[in-house]
Amino acid sequence: MREFDEKSITQAVIGRLAGCDDPRFARIMSSLVTHLHDFVREVSLTESEWFAAIQFLTDVGKACTEKRQEFILLSDTLGVSVLVITLSHPAHDGSVESTVQGPFYWEGAPELPRGSNLAEGVKGEPAFYSGRVLSTDGRPLANALLDIWSGDGEGNYDMQLPGETGMRARGRIRTDVEGRYWFRSIRPTFYPVPTDGPVGQMLRKMGRHAFRPGHLHMIVSAPGHLPVTTHLFVAGSQYLDSDAVFGMKESLVVEFKRHSAGAGPDGQRLETPFYTVSYDFRLRPAPTAAPGKPDSGPEGQ
Ligand code: BEZ
Ligand code: FE
Repeated sequence: MREFDEKSITQAVIGRLAGCDDPRFARIMSSLVTHLHDFVREVSLTESEWFAAIQFLTDVGKACTEKRQEFILLSDTLGVSVLVITLSHPAHDGSVESTVQGPFYWEGAPELPRGSNLAEGVKGEPAFYSGRVLSTDGRPLANALLDIWSGDGEGNYDMQLPGETGMRARGRIRTDVEGRYWFRSIRPTFYPVPTDGPVGQMLRKMGRHAFRPGHLHMIVSAPGHLPVTTHLFVAGSQYLDSDAVFGMKESLVVEFKRHSAGAGPDGQRLETPFYTVSYDFRLRPAPTAAPGKPDSGPEGQ
């Protein structure tokens, strides 16, 4: 057939995958074409709406720079990122849940001794974090690595501050032989995802706010275990029930216990009130590769 109507066009496009020698790619493309065509038919998409969509995606691409990834923000705000993460890391065996990485991860944060203040000179109320990294069977994991980052107490990440501030409120901390970690930072506050680009326009047009509840990011890894990209959310923070990127998970909400000015957990006197937080991270053992068969997928690497 050389000519297609609004129904037969879908099978015609899928049929052109006959020469594809990658079955997974063929399955993904065939499903994508099916859903995309169904969507166009369902809403009777007009030509001007289609061009507006193309212009929008073009603008999303143009907004990407070395420091800004507008496509990830689009995926985050449409709930696709957290959907993919939730499918890839089902919570079971009591392992810590994963959530979005977001655009503010900066590889190469300094490795600091346990107890360090990650937020030296950063605005915000002091908070002391401690806990353990364990295997899901309860074994403490020595030498596990927590790669930690957050915004400041006003909701700004170092990358968003004017000028070249260098890394702030970031650091990598390793656990001791009993799997324990402890460090000082600040109590993060809620903040908006970037709204000065096309995704911000989309959120406004959808009638949505752009805020995320207060949270601290970390990637927790340990030898022989699957790494986890996750957050600790501040209990009671605004927007816990309407995270703009749908990343909130109840199991990651922690109490920040408030203390009056005085001696902190490290023995040093603080002139302002401060908070203490405790959380244990449980990691799943990495599957061992079958003999003669290389481990598959990024999780096994
Ligand atoms: C963040 O938590 O840093 C973040 C996550 C997704 C989109 C924007 C920011
Ligand atoms: Fe964040």
